Amino acid sequence: MTRTASATTRRRVPPAGDALFRDTAANIGRSPAAPFGRDKPRPLGITVYGCAPDEADLFQALAPRFGVSATTIAAAAPEAGIVPVPGNRCVSVAHKSPISRPVLAALKESGVDYVSTRSIGLDHIDLRAAEELGITVENVAYAPDGVADYTVMLLLMAIRHAKGIVTAAQNRDFRPPNVRGKELRDMTVGVLGTGRIGSAVIERLRGFGCRVLASDTRGQGPAVAEFVSLDALLAESDVVTLHLPLDAGTRHCIGRRQLAALKPGAFLVNTGRGALVDTAALIAALEEERLAGAALDVLEGEDGLFYFDCTERPIDNPFLLRLQALPNVIITPHTAYHTDRVLHDVVTATLRNCLRFDRSRADG
Ligand SMILES: NC(=O)c1ccc[n+]([C@@H]2O[C@H](COP(=O)([O-])OP(=O)(O)OC[C@H]3O[C@@H](n4cnc5c(N)ncnc54)[C@H](O)[C@@H]3O)[C@@H](O)[C@H]2O)c1
Repeated sequence: MTRTASATTRRRVPPAGDALFRDTAANIGRSPAAPFGRDKPRPLGITVYGCAPDEADLFQALAPRFGVSATTIAAAAPEAGIVPVPGNRCVSVAHKSPISRPVLAALKESGVDYVSTRSIGLDHIDLRAAEELGITVENVAYAPDGVADYTVMLLLMAIRHAKGIVTAAQNRDFRPPNVRGKELRDMTVGVLGTGRIGSAVIERLRGFGCRVLASDTRGQGPAVAEFVSLDALLAESDVVTLHLPLDAGTRHCIGRRQLAALKPGAFLVNTGRGALVDTAALIAALEEERLAGAALDVLEGEDGLFYFDCTERPIDNPFLLRLQALPNVIITPHTAYHTDRVLHDVVTATLRNCLRFDRSRADG
């Protein structure tokens, strides 16, 4: 529940003791140069769910510059957690929890007709339900560089066996590792998906002197990559890195057959989405030592685990437990996007998305 303060200040004030709300409206729609008066239009109100403290601070800083009033809520938007903010028809959601049909229905019920997700991927949103309910859904575009940098970091960590080296050194075992690393200039890297992130990865790989193969249904991408069929990419690559969106056509696109087609001793890197890979088949390939290693920023069944402190609770995802037990598998909790710059771009793009939608609705 929210309470709107007096018209003089136009502050949206959290109810006493309500930790869900961070007031981003300290200066909503007002600036010393152009204060909102009684005759000025009210700023567009948006509700931002699943908002981390640093995101909330940035919404607080930037929303007034866009003439937007942002109410930020720390909780995600699960079924039971929809906190309607009267008059706010635009909401922003995080990618960290599913936006299911019941969530969308609850949002619609509270007057929402626009959802902007603070992610590139849309796979956590029931898009069919949104369409049926008459809710427009948009993602945000942000520069691919942060995710591309992270992908190359994971790739290098995998081929240099960084997990074992760092873990041993942390335990004061400073002997050289049993297994030697490989150099990228001696390797062929296969990039599956040459959209924004895949292309940025290819640009970065140029400097390492490796051969780069690429495959994409659009058949386009940076000229430095050789475009080949998926089968050729799997057969010839020493490392395969995934940069596809997750949808019905790409789910488990790296399955038992594709893993069997990889070179013995190849590495797999995934910063796309967990379910691009049939994880049971991947674990079998790793445990049977057909693959040399994997570096995964995303994992099937990551919801409810990644982004939570699980140090004091049992892990109920058998995939995660088996993968973490392997010395040649690096897992990071969906953090490739987690940079200052991406945060800034995402907040700005969210505000722009909502304004654009509001204007298009006003234009009829
Ligand atoms: N780990 C993270 O933090 C993180 C951050 C951002 C994005 N991502 C993931 O990365 C994905 C890619 O992002 P992007 O900005 O490069 O997207 P993009 O839309 O620019 O590129 C995706 C590419 O995949 C190609 N493609 C789609 N289906 C294909 C198929 N079946 N076979 C071959 N190619 C296919 C498309 O033609 C397109 O070129 C996102 O969808 C998201 O899931 C992860």
